Amino acid sequence: MYRPIVLLLFLFLQLSGFTQEIATVISPNGKMKADIYLDDDKRLSYHLSLNGNIVIQKSNLGFLLKKPALQLNQFDVQAIDTSSFAETWQPIWGEEKEILNHYRQLLLHVKSAGILMDIEFRIFNDGMGFRYLFPNQELLQHLIVDEELTQFKMTGNHTAFWIPGDYDTNEYTYNKSLLSEIDAVAAVVKEKDIAVISPAGKYVVQSPLMLKSNSGMYINIHEAALVNYPAMHLKLNPVDYSFQSVLTPDAVGNKAYLQTPCVTPWRTIIASDKAEDILSSRIILNLNEPTKYHDTKWIKPQKFMGMWWEMHIGKANWPLAGGKHGANTANVKRYIDFAAQHGFDGVLVEGWNKGWEDWFGNWKEEVFDFVSPYPDYNIDSLTRYAQSKGLRLIMHHETSGSVTNYERRMQDAFGYMIANGINTVKTGYVGKIIPRGEHHDGQWMVNHYNRVAEKAAAYHIMVDSHESVHPTGLHRTYPNWLAAEAARGSEFNNAPTLGIVPNHTTILPFTRLMGGPMDYTPGIFSMSLNKFEASRTQKVRSTLAKQLALYITIYSPLQMAADLPEHYEAHLDAFQFIKDVDVDWDATKIIAAEPGEHVTIARREKGKPNWFVGSITNEQARNAKLVFDFLDDGVKYVATIYRDGDDADYENNPESYKIEKRVIKKGDQLSVMLKRGGGCAISLIKL
Ligand code: NOJ
Ligand code: CA
Repeated sequence: MYRPIVLLLFLFLQLSGFTQEIATVISPNGKMKADIYLDDDKRLSYHLSLNGNIVIQKSNLGFLLKKPALQLNQFDVQAIDTSSFAETWQPIWGEEKEILNHYRQLLLHVKSAGILMDIEFRIFNDGMGFRYLFPNQELLQHLIVDEELTQFKMTGNHTAFWIPGDYDTNEYTYNKSLLSEIDAVAAVVKEKDIAVISPAGKYVVQSPLMLKSNSGMYINIHEAALVNYPAMHLKLNPVDYSFQSVLTPDAVGNKAYLQTPCVTPWRTIIASDKAEDILSSRIILNLNEPTKYHDTKWIKPQKFMGMWWEMHIGKANWPLAGGKHGANTANVKRYIDFAAQHGFDGVLVEGWNKGWEDWFGNWKEEVFDFVSPYPDYNIDSLTRYAQSKGLRLIMHHETSGSVTNYERRMQDAFGYMIANGINTVKTGYVGKIIPRGEHHDGQWMVNHYNRVAEKAAAYHIMVDSHESVHPTGLHRTYPNWLAAEAARGSEFNNAPTLGIVPNHTTILPFTRLMGGPMDYTPGIFSMSLNKFEASRTQKVRSTLAKQLALYITIYSPLQMAADLPEHYEAHLDAFQFIKDVDVDWDATKIIAAEPGEHVTIARREKGKPNWFVGSITNEQARNAKLVFDFLDDGVKYVATIYRDGDDADYENNPESYKIEKRVIKKGDQLSVMLKRGGGCAISLIKL
């Protein structure tokens, strides 16, 4: 880090009795500006603007401590430090080869109720992050947080893309509404959707929260580096359109137990006049710590198939009892054969271990031991068989919410995986967390997820967590934590309620994906789900071509081809895209995007000259206009265009698609019709 250039204005000289502006920080490009104020009554606040337009109005900062019982909301400023930072770093895997981390920083040293605190602000060209730090001090060794008093005050009644506040799940359908409508809509959504009434209460929504102002400013609010702290929710004040941080409580209502020195996660605000810029922001990754792992060569992005969807749609089942056990040796072998034949890296097997007869609803602490396969599942022979075919099994650890049990057994479970040549685990946290009733988003569980990532790394194991807390860019620090679900994923196509509505996947990049990769499990080709059980009358609300495009529009280094081998056999020409598409990239270009409407992204394959494009729409048909200005000069590419058939429609004819080939070079243009609930995927392979 090098020492300051400019940027600080001490305006202590202003008339007393008014708000004093105590500091200003301007982003490296001069467009994003944060102002820090101290009011007459010693309240501290910040204000953020972009090109002179207000992003966040004057918003308060502070804390309520439960122990010691103190209100930290009136401050004396002790000192102010400024600095700048610029660095380019290389992610181990990701959406681009290099990431620029460039910001100007302001460190406020303050005192409140006798307690020393620091507040650190980083101003980037595309937004800002800030966090609180408590240095070690005699008066404050241990603390219990009652609430963080961070405010985000909007300038008006923005349009918001949001899910209801819920400390235990983020698997909701997104709502698009004015801020003033949030509470009315929340009630309706809960009724139509999952039968969970949010314990987070009225007007509470989850982050990442996406907003759009009437004047067309896009604002994203989230957090970065969620470590040893509860996840933040946001509570709207419908009178002045301000949000207040709401920390997830623990089982007895406390928010966080900390020991000084300690820091909170970063509060992030990303803003632009262009929706595309929100998706290319790397603020959240930049605010996370670089990895401390010395050796990362064992960490590999992957494409996999799995013994999974056939259980969700009733062809097979997880438990041995009942006669439809999916994870039997012969069936898994069939998956290995198909996945190996088509070049996949892994095969996930769910329902392999004893305990599924009793896994849900009984809230027993001892259900799974994670090392006992069912008798019809021959893990030894399957491991060897998979290896002989050049791929690996992927382990499944469903904890069924019994996390104390998992913590006790984790070491043995990871050892068992390694002994069986398995180096990727999908973890799951379905149901309430027993025995204490901690929340999925609370500090206790946050520490658990982070511990799993770290412990797994010691065994050279990669992690894909389901039902975990919203990601906050920690994959920079723990690059073996390849992906998380932590949102409503493709499994909900099977839900008898709203399922996955067509605009869902156009909102995900602006919300859930801001924090990190998602194991969405795309690639469903067979849209009627009543093949094995007539009662499953719901249908996948997507065209087949859109399912292909999701491999590009939903970024993840871990992507599943989620459908059944026999469903891919029926469309091997379309399946070719899933075989060809990469999961690791040297470059990403957000071509066009609008939350709730459409997303078009192009990505260049890691270490190769090939590009892949994905374009998706909501329930409206539209034309995607592609200008291939991002391709390399003087190179010709064979473009294979997988698009919706002329008669395709997500409701009436979802499986209709068309494949065309043509030669494309830099500067060429293409206009592709995306049908209702449709999409288009293009591979561009260098000639
Ligand atoms: C929910 C997960 O999201 C899903 O992928 C898994 O199959 C089930 N739990 C069973 O563990
Ligand atoms: Ca899930």
